[in-house]
Amino acid sequence: MNAVRTILGVTVRTPAKVNLELRVGPREDHGYHGLSTVFYAVDLTDNVTVSESDTWGCTVVGPYADQVPTDASNLAVQAAQLVYERYGFTGAAHLTIDKAIPVAGGMAGGSADGAAGLVGVDALLDAGLSKQDLHDLAAHLGSDVPFALFGGTALGSGRGEQLAPILTQGRTEWVFALRHQGLSTPAVYAECDRMRGDDPVPPPEPSQELMAALRAGDVTSLAGCLHNDLQPAACSLLPELEETLQVGHDNGALRGIVSGSGPTVAFLCQDKAAALELMVALTASKTCDEVVRASGPAHGAHVVHDVRMT
Ligand code: C5P
Repeated sequence: MNAVRTILGVTVRTPAKVNLELRVGPREDHGYHGLSTVFYAVDLTDNVTVSESDTWGCTVVGPYADQVPTDASNLAVQAAQLVYERYGFTGAAHLTIDKAIPVAGGMAGGSADGAAGLVGVDALLDAGLSKQDLHDLAAHLGSDVPFALFGGTALGSGRGEQLAPILTQGRTEWVFALRHQGLSTPAVYAECDRMRGDDPVPPPEPSQELMAALRAGDVTSLAGCLHNDLQPAACSLLPELEETLQVGHDNGALRGIVSGSGPTVAFLCQDKAAALELMVALTASKTCDEVVRASGPAHGAHVVHDVRMT
C-alpha cells in the first residue's frame, strides 16, 4: 500500500477595512503623510492558505484573480518570504489566495493578504512569533498591514502603522460600491497634496465626537462623524464617484464616504434591510460595477483551518 503524505497547510481569514475617519497631515521628509485615522475591519474577507512546498509559488482564485500578481510583488508572498528569511527557515511555501476583497479599492485587500501571509507562515512553521514581532514585520510590509492583523476598531497614527484599540458597542451594516478601475494610493495622496497647494496643513487629530459615537454604539451619530480627507482627491481623479455617492444619499444610506484612497464607496446603513434596499438601488443605477454588503467590526487575520489538526 502506498503511504499517503499529508501536505501541511494553514488557512487564514483576513478582513477588509474602511477608514471611519482619515485625517491626512502634511507629507513628511520620508515621503509619507502623517495620519490620524480610525480603522474599522469588516467581514468582507480573503482566505489565504499557506502550504509546505519545495518551491515558492502563489495561486489566486476568486472574482479578482486576474488582477492580482502571483510573483514576489504579491504582498502575501513577500510576507511569507520575510518570515522565512528573518527567522532562518529553509524550504518554501505555496500560497493560495481566495480573493473577495476588491483589488486597488481602498479597502486594504493587498495589506490583508500580507497580514495573512505572516500569520499563516507563523502557524505553519510553529515559529512562535510574538504580537510585537508580527506587528514589526507587518509595518515593514506596508502602512495598512498592521491593522489587518489587529482587526476590530483602532486608532491609527504615524503613517497608519501605530495602532491603539478603540472601545465600540454594537455592530454596523455597510454596503460597498466597487469599481473595476482601481485608483493608485500614491496617485491619490499626490492629488491631495496638489489640491491643497501651499496652504498650511494642521497636524491631524482624531475627533472626540467619533470616539463617543463608537462608545455609545450610536449609528446615527457615527454617520455624522464619517470623514475622509482623501475623498476630494479621489473624486477629482474619478468624478463619477460623486454620482455613486448621490445614489446612496437618495436611497436611504445614513452616509456615504470614499473608502481610504478609493475608488470603493462605503455606505453606512441603518440595518440589514436598509442595506439590501440600497444594494438594489445601486445596482440599478449602474453608477458602479459591483455591490457587496458587509458588517463590522470583524476579527483581524486568524487561522480558520489547520490540516495539522486533522
Ligand atoms: O505603505 P504603503 O506601501 O501601503 O503606501 C503606499 C503609498 O501610499 C506610499 O508609497 C505613499 O505614496 C502613500 N502613503 C502616504 N502616506 C501614508 C500612507 C501611504 O503618502 N501615511
